[in-house]
Amino acid sequence: MLAEMGIKPAWRLREAAALPVSGDATVAAPELMVEAVKNAEDIVREPASVPAMTADAQRRSNIAALDWDGLASTVSDCRACGLCERRKQAVLGVGDRQADWMFVGEGPGAEEDERGEPFVGQAGKLLDAMLESISLKRGENVYIANAVKCRPPGNRTPEAIEIATCRPYLERQIELVQPKLLIALGRPAAQILLGQELSIASARRKVHRYAIGNIPVVVTYHPAYLLRTLPDKAKAWEDLCFALDLVAQP
Ligand code: URA
Repeated sequence: MLAEMGIKPAWRLREAAALPVSGDATVAAPELMVEAVKNAEDIVREPASVPAMTADAQRRSNIAALDWDGLASTVSDCRACGLCERRKQAVLGVGDRQADWMFVGEGPGAEEDERGEPFVGQAGKLLDAMLESISLKRGENVYIANAVKCRPPGNRTPEAIEIATCRPYLERQIELVQPKLLIALGRPAAQILLGQELSIASARRKVHRYAIGNIPVVVTYHPAYLLRTLPDKAKAWEDLCFALDLVAQP
């Protein structure tokens, strides 16, 4: 190989020798004992120092290769963060695995934890109504997932480390579904999809992009927030119409 590259023979230092002090004429130049590496294979056979994959990189790479069954069983057995301690079950997602529309929420609440399906409580009923308002239906061309798959205790907002740990699962889901459009429901979902801090108010009515696959992302309010803040329902309706227009585009 080295010969092909025109750099044979290669040389290496056999003994360490003190180097002359620069400018000191009395110090004799050391005798550098060198030896030709006669065969380029000598070099090729030396063990390569390939940095080992970190455990986290290995985990990500394993998840990125999972099919639906593998993903479901890995998520269900996951103990990668503290949320596993108090969950009843992990909640992967629900719906059409070839959907054009993929909705991403924050994390399961008590009812979702009980039933193993996202958005089945009060917020879920509102989400179903929102879907219906644009002629969509859970399970029909719609897939629903969450940023974290296990219920945060007391329905608190998931912590950054929990979201980051769960992120490879969401990434794999998106890759498997390959939706035409992602709808981020609320701020944590928007932040995980877009990888940046933002406010819903500033992010609405814009076409964002999910970096892996360049999928368009529309951001709107979380249904649980809308249950507490009824006037903003009109804005969520605008966002859904905006999304509808986007999907209708050729
Ligand atoms: N809120 C969410 O963000 N996801 C659910 O699944 C339920 C409530």
